[in-house]
Amino acid sequence: MIQSGPVTPPHITDLPIRALTVDDLHRCADLSEDRGWLREDHKWGLLLAAGNGFGVDAPDGRGLAAACVVTRYGNTSAGPDLAAIGMVLVADRYARQGLGRALMTHVCDGVLKGTALTLHATPHGRPLYEELGFATTGRAEMLVGTFQQEGAADTEDAPHIRPAVADDLPRILRLDAEVFGADRTHMITRLPAFADQLLVSEDHGAEGMLTGFAAAWPNMHTHVVGPLIARDTGTAKALITALARGTTRPLRTDVDVRHEELLAWLKQRGLESVAFNAVMTRDIPDLPGDWTRRWAPLTVAAG
Ligand SMILES: CC(C)(COP(=O)(O)OP(=O)(O)OC[C@H]1O[C@@H](n2cnc3c(N)ncnc32)[C@H](O)[C@@H]1OP(=O)(O)O)[C@@H](O)C(=O)NCCC(=O)NCCS
Repeated sequence: MIQSGPVTPPHITDLPIRALTVDDLHRCADLSEDRGWLREDHKWGLLLAAGNGFGVDAPDGRGLAAACVVTRYGNTSAGPDLAAIGMVLVADRYARQGLGRALMTHVCDGVLKGTALTLHATPHGRPLYEELGFATTGRAEMLVGTFQQEGAADTEDAPHIRPAVADDLPRILRLDAEVFGADRTHMITRLPAFADQLLVSEDHGAEGMLTGFAAAWPNMHTHVVGPLIARDTGTAKALITALARGTTRPLRTDVDVRHEELLAWLKQRGLESVAFNAVMTRDIPDLPGDWTRRWAPLTVAAG
């Protein structure tokens, strides 16, 4: 007679890490909810389609135990120039058992070994990322609130703002690559479908010269303003004012803290500071591109 003793289940960190697809969207949104985040289905949909998700199935059969998403930018034939990591989540019932560390180690030291990395870290994630070699290079302030239009009227020298049309796309991509510092065509070309508004700014009289662009995309009860690319503070303000006219929802945006004038103006216009995230990088001393013209990311989960 064959005697079989109780089978020891594998430790949570020994479970396989698998690629996530758009079919995992609801499981990802459930995981967000499990950690007290918003479900953010629309954002998960974009990230799983344009990026690469990684996750661990929960051994109790209840969805995902952990997940994260990687978005690669730049020359993909020779490897990406930069990759952004976001939506790093471990289900509450599996927290503090090494799973977050195992998933991030797999992604950063395995899948993305040798690639310059960036992420926006919450205070919860930061100690782990520091141990994995990330350093804080900046901060972003998250603002949410209903934008007060009163007193934000156009001035005479305000830039000309209009909805983007198909012909603008090559110029948007050129401007974006210059300011973001890496090609993100696969993300930007999704904006017309993903966002509810996509506006461009151009100089009066300088036909063809784009000075900025901005999108507002739906996220639960808010519209997120991002990306926000603009030549100067006046252009950034004009783009936000025009986007706010197109929605009755509160706005959310995550502004680089170096843009003090814009942050002060947004607070005057009714938005409130709700959180600060650390902008971290690994294998690169700072983010590429031109931060002076980069006001807000598309989403903190993708840079
Ligand atoms: C951050 C998170 C992904 C960590 O996953 P985890 O599996 O619980 O973490 P691990 O068990 O692998 O621990 C790794 C390290 O993270 C840090 N850490 C994890 N949970 C922490 C907590 N609640 N408070 C402070 N530090 C914490 C510690 O440095 C820990 O190392 P230690 O156990 O040796 O002290 C998880 O707590 C989570 O999903 N939090 C909510 C979502 C979030 O904030 N994500 C980060 C987005 S940037």
